[in-house]
Amino acid sequence: MKVDVLLGLQWGDEGKGKIVDVLTPQYDIIARFQGGPNAGHTLEFEGIKHVLHTIPSGIFHSNVVNLIGNGVVIDPVVFQKELEKLAPFNINIAERLIISKKAHLILPSHRLLDAASEASKGINKIGSTLKGIGPTYMDKTGRNGLRVGDIFLPDFKERYNTLLEKHIGMLKHYEGFEYNLEELEGPWMAAIEELRKLKAVDSEHYLNDALKAGKKVLAEGAQGTMLDIDFGTYPFVTSSNTVTAGTCTGLGIAPTRIGNVIGIFKAYCTRVGSGPFPTELEDETGEQIRRDGHEFGSTTGRPRRCGWIDIPAMKYAIMINGVTELAMMKADVLDNFDMIRACTKYRINGEELDYLPYNIDGVEIEPVWEEIPGWNQDLTQLSSYSEAPEALKNYVTYLERLLEVPVTTVSVGPDRKQTLATR
Ligand code: GDP
Ligand code: IMO
Ligand code: MG
Repeated sequence: MKVDVLLGLQWGDEGKGKIVDVLTPQYDIIARFQGGPNAGHTLEFEGIKHVLHTIPSGIFHSNVVNLIGNGVVIDPVVFQKELEKLAPFNINIAERLIISKKAHLILPSHRLLDAASEASKGINKIGSTLKGIGPTYMDKTGRNGLRVGDIFLPDFKERYNTLLEKHIGMLKHYEGFEYNLEELEGPWMAAIEELRKLKAVDSEHYLNDALKAGKKVLAEGAQGTMLDIDFGTYPFVTSSNTVTAGTCTGLGIAPTRIGNVIGIFKAYCTRVGSGPFPTELEDETGEQIRRDGHEFGSTTGRPRRCGWIDIPAMKYAIMINGVTELAMMKADVLDNFDMIRACTKYRINGEELDYLPYNIDGVEIEPVWEEIPGWNQDLTQLSSYSEAPEALKNYVTYLERLLEVPVTTVSVGPDRKQTLATR
């Protein structure tokens, strides 16, 4: 069997959690392959809204295993809180959730280093979620990190102390940065005890055995392609490979095992945190999208920057990921527009480009717009795509023509049920 992949094509928050939840009944295993508690994946059904950070978005379905892969970084405290929030829903966590022994741990001191680094950058800060993501991946590649499997070793505490000492030394370089480590350490150690009770496995073996046995696997991306450490708008990115290739390294899956790649995007575009955003609208239209789309971060609550869809960035993301089908989200947020815009090219220093040049930070980028008629009606009550207004279908066809990939799903509201198959 092959592994299908679902991932974001923009700057995150495309609606990955919702669509993974919708697709889960078709799979046996849902696997997160990168990122950590910087992610906030929202699911809505039966009038309840759930936000997941570390736990894969298939957790509400029975008979499905949710796997946290080796490429993920785990903060035991955030993870414990997530589990507590799930408690009222009687989910058999011991049966449904497994964790890679090779996933790295976020220490309290990683979070402090993230905060100290951001504070020292002033206006040039990344706008990190302050969850300790960057410092944890730095320790992973620097070969200093602690992994989930280490918590079962007799010298875990010594390993922890060695890393902590290193971090304390590093924190001294950030003059004036004050912190209270003890306050953070107690809850962290308690959460480690809870983590010990869960099933930690050699997940690369688990997954490959499952594939051999004919099980169907969906890999759930976090963040988005434009936040990828290699291909995103560096340095305003996250610290992991958010693209399809990240599935191979983050789960231990061979490239030949990759099946369908579902690229997910909003009918417009958002970004939270700093960094270039060519189609950003700092006007009433941007405000309207933010208001109608409730564009505030699921993890940090920060207002998301909003703009029209960016076709060159989408084409780039489709190329890097080998996207085979597309899911367009939040079409209903554009219900009240007579005219919708799409950026098809960038004008930079008088020259028109249809790709992102190496350095777009601080460069004046003027989007070249095309206008598409809006549908100007409520989509949220639609139950099938055949009933959709012609203007919406035209927008979808227009995007398919430019992007050269079929749009198979259109989402018209946050609920599970507000999901339309186009074919
Ligand atoms: P993720 O990080 O990609 O899982 O996305 P988030 O959960 O951070 O952000 C997506 C937000 O949009 C959440 O609040 C979802 O409930 C909401 N959402 C998802 N799909 C739709 C949709 O089609 N229409 C509307 N109005 N909201 C949606
Ligand atoms: P999901 O999975 C949107 C952004 C942060 C910041 C940059 C680096 O919910 O789509 P980090 O904490 O990773 O060091 O922050 O990346 N960012 C996200 N933006 N959605 C996310 O996840 C994000 N995870 C990180 O805002 O700009
Ligand atoms: Mg999110």
